[in-house]
Amino acid sequence: MKDLKLQFPKGFLFGTATSAYQIEGAWNEDGKGESIWDRYCHDGMGKVANNDTADISIDHYHHLDEDLDMLKDIGCKTYRFSLAWTRLLPNGIGEVNQKGIDFYNKLIDGLLARDIIPAVTLYHWDLPAALQDMGGWTNREIVNWFLEYAELCFKSFGDRVKLWMTHNEMTVFTFSGYSTGKFPPCIRDYKMAVLAAHHALLAHGAAVKLYRDMGLDGKIGVALDLVPKVPLTDAEEDIKVAEIANATSHFLFYDAIVKGCYSELALKIYRENNFLPNFDFEVMAEDMKIISEKCDFIGVNYYYTQAVRYKKGEGRFDYEVAFRNLNRSTADWEIDPEGFYDLLMKIKRDTNGSMPIIITENGYSADEVRTFEEEIMDYDRIDYLEKHLTALHRAISDGVDVRGYMLWSAFDNFEWNFGFEKRFGLIYVDYKTLKRTKKLSAEWYRRLIEYQKNVK
Ligand code: BGC
Repeated sequence: MKDLKLQFPKGFLFGTATSAYQIEGAWNEDGKGESIWDRYCHDGMGKVANNDTADISIDHYHHLDEDLDMLKDIGCKTYRFSLAWTRLLPNGIGEVNQKGIDFYNKLIDGLLARDIIPAVTLYHWDLPAALQDMGGWTNREIVNWFLEYAELCFKSFGDRVKLWMTHNEMTVFTFSGYSTGKFPPCIRDYKMAVLAAHHALLAHGAAVKLYRDMGLDGKIGVALDLVPKVPLTDAEEDIKVAEIANATSHFLFYDAIVKGCYSELALKIYRENNFLPNFDFEVMAEDMKIISEKCDFIGVNYYYTQAVRYKKGEGRFDYEVAFRNLNRSTADWEIDPEGFYDLLMKIKRDTNGSMPIIITENGYSADEVRTFEEEIMDYDRIDYLEKHLTALHRAISDGVDVRGYMLWSAFDNFEWNFGFEKRFGLIYVDYKTLKRTKKLSAEWYRRLIEYQKNVK
């Protein structure tokens, strides 16, 4: 194993990331309410591999100290995790569950005691089922529901948590939830997805404003999933569909937050296809002000770049995803560190370099190779990380203001519709015994972090 001898700027936050539903388990313990992911996994809608559920997952809820010790051993300076809305407000609004507050206090205090900076995501897809029953993200009231939840979190933990993210990956819970129907609530109605997207953005902006109004002294941003689409060839039609694909999916959220408006192209395409909800454009102008409430940083979740090509009649907007000749992860994502560099440079250009960036996720699902001694030699993961961290380092040298890197993920965990089939962790988890074992990549990452000690 070769060390990566690159030094990042002083104070650069190296860490790891997880989310509540994917690791906590204890799905109905200590007063926790039902989330849409609990419901989806239980009702056998048949979309999760092997009918897996995260009822127990890696049982982080009952392995807190052991897990935090492992993060400490790796040398993490920060740890990004999400709060389960249903642990704190079992019905989404109303009655508060003190045991949920206690659990997160224990987690936050445990991190601080180990000199690890807590970085909290408010919403990582596990909407309270009770709120889904009232329309979920398509009901504009959700902005107020989210504010009630955010206020509780800021009040309860804001004295110690100084790094916040409103949502994780809005594209996923709005478009995959309401348009492709691949994720709960499994609806296939594009117009509803656009409405859900708008409300998610509004809830984000309103929570940022609330944080400011409460006079809290930390930083708040959002974790955006940015999967850039590039044209497969130089053909004009490929270039055009790549623009459409970017504007109407991941960059819809980015444009709204960073530029303060929806892209004209996205609106035009939605209009032409009758996907635009009946927005009141006066209200919309006000909404955009809220949505673009200035964040302290933009969180970037980058895994891959996708090539697209024009194909008449394909999907909604006449394009299909096509593979280039790049290696792929076991999730079939093309490995494209250059795409990472290009994305970071784009953000720098779009924001005149004035918006700090945190890499809130980047990582790799690999097949594990074991030695006779049962050591887990995940060389492919190390290779992926090395390439992406090198690209990141180059972007920083070229003036991109990146403050931290939160590797996905600390532990193997429940990978949504892939169930437990895909492993992203630095730490291997045996799902039968719940035994944790550090993979080679954990040691490699530890050494990289250690190497930063002498940065002047
Ligand atoms: C999500 C994580 C997920 C990871 C790997 C991101 O889309 O935020 O929850 O596990 O990617 O697929």
